[in-house]
Parts: sequence; C-alpha cells; structure tokens
Amino acid sequence: MKLRESGMPPPDYWETLHDVPRILDAFGFGPATGDVAELGCGYGTFTLPLARRIGGTVHTFDIEAEMVALTAQRAAAAGLANVKAERRDVLAGGFGVAPGSCDAALLFNILHAEEPVALLRAAHDAVRPGGLVAVIHWRSDLATPRGPSLAIRPRPEQVAAWAAEAGLAADGASFELPPWHYGLKLRRV
Ligand SMILES: C[S@@+](CC[C@H](N)C(=O)[O-])C[C@H]1O[C@@H](n2cnc3c(N)ncnc32)[C@H](O)[C@@H]1O
Repeated sequence: MKLRESGMPPPDYWETLHDVPRILDAFGFGPATGDVAELGCGYGTFTLPLARRIGGTVHTFDIEAEMVALTAQRAAAAGLANVKAERRDVLAGGFGVAPGSCDAALLFNILHAEEPVALLRAAHDAVRPGGLVAVIHWRSDLATPRGPSLAIRPRPEQVAAWAAEAGLAADGASFELPPWHYGLKLRRV
C-alpha cells in the first residue's frame, strides 16, 4: 500500500529542499559504510550521493515503478554500479534483504505513514545488531514549504517512542538539518 501523503513535487524543486551532503555527513556515511537499505528512493535524491560515498551497495526500494526506473537510470548514467533499485511494497513485505545484512537503513521523509512501527521494524530487521536506522523528517516547529500535514508529521520524541517498540534505541538527541528537517539516529539494540 502506498504510504499516505508520500507524493513529491517535481525533482528540480524537491532537491532544493534538502542539503544532501550535510545530511549524509550528519549520519557519518563514508567509505567504511557497508550495505544500506533505503525505503522510498523517490527521485534518487539521496540514493546516488550515498552510493558515491559508501563502500557497500545501496539497496533501494519504491512502490512506484517510475521512481525505481528513474533512480536506476540516474545511477547508470552516473556510472554507479553499487545501486540496486527494485519495485517493492516495503510496508507489505519488508526490505527483502537478508536479515541483519545492512550497516544502515534510511527512513527519510517516510514516518508520517499509517504504520510507522511496522516500517521501523522492517528497518530493524534489515540492519545488523548495533546498525544504524537513519531518520529525517520535516520539522513541525517552523513553517516549511512542503511536507505532510502537521497532524500526521511526527516529532522526534514520537519517532523515538515508536522506535523503542520496534527494538531500536535513540543514539543521542535529535539534531537540526537546515533548512527544514531534523535528524535522529536509531540503533538496533
Ligand atoms: C516523500 S517520498 C520520499 C523519497 C525519498 N526518501 C526522499 O526523501 O527523497 C516517499 C517515497 O516513498 C514511496 N513509497 C510510498 N509507499 C511505499 C511503500 N509502501 N513501499 C515502498 N515505497 C513507498 C513513494 O512512492 C515515494 O517515492
């Protein structure tokens, strides 16, 4: 099932709304990072820059075939062999990677979904013990030019509480990712 309010504006605009290098730096992604699973590749906004900097493969999934095709096409055009993009309903079937095989999972602009704990459990299962589940979301404490309705937009405290239900623990406090987002690091217990 497609997650509620998970559509996006055109890529040229969407990609002005995120400071991608700063976000990837904040989570410590670098050459020592192995495989990463991503829920919702969208336009590949994070997929390609992440693949460029890590040692492993980015396994990225989207329910929309067009998003998967676009991300795969952009990765191929950039000569990135370490992007595996696949159409998949992650809510229905998890990430489909070998359990505990990833160093990290990305839940970026995703947790306003109807079933956030199920998505956090899927991310938990994909990463190794101690592995990172990286979350970003739109801030609720300032007016943002995009993002889901405030009524369903999760604050960091809410994400941390859901994460505990999924066997994940917050690794430090949430942090600001200007201009519009916050980040939260979760670890598989
Ligand atoms: C708001 S966009 C975020 C994309 C990307 N994470 C980013 O921040 O640029 C959400 C994406 O999740 C995808 N999506 C929605 N429901 C999904 C599901 N059940 N399984 C996999 N992908 C899904 C949408 O098609 C969309 O591309």
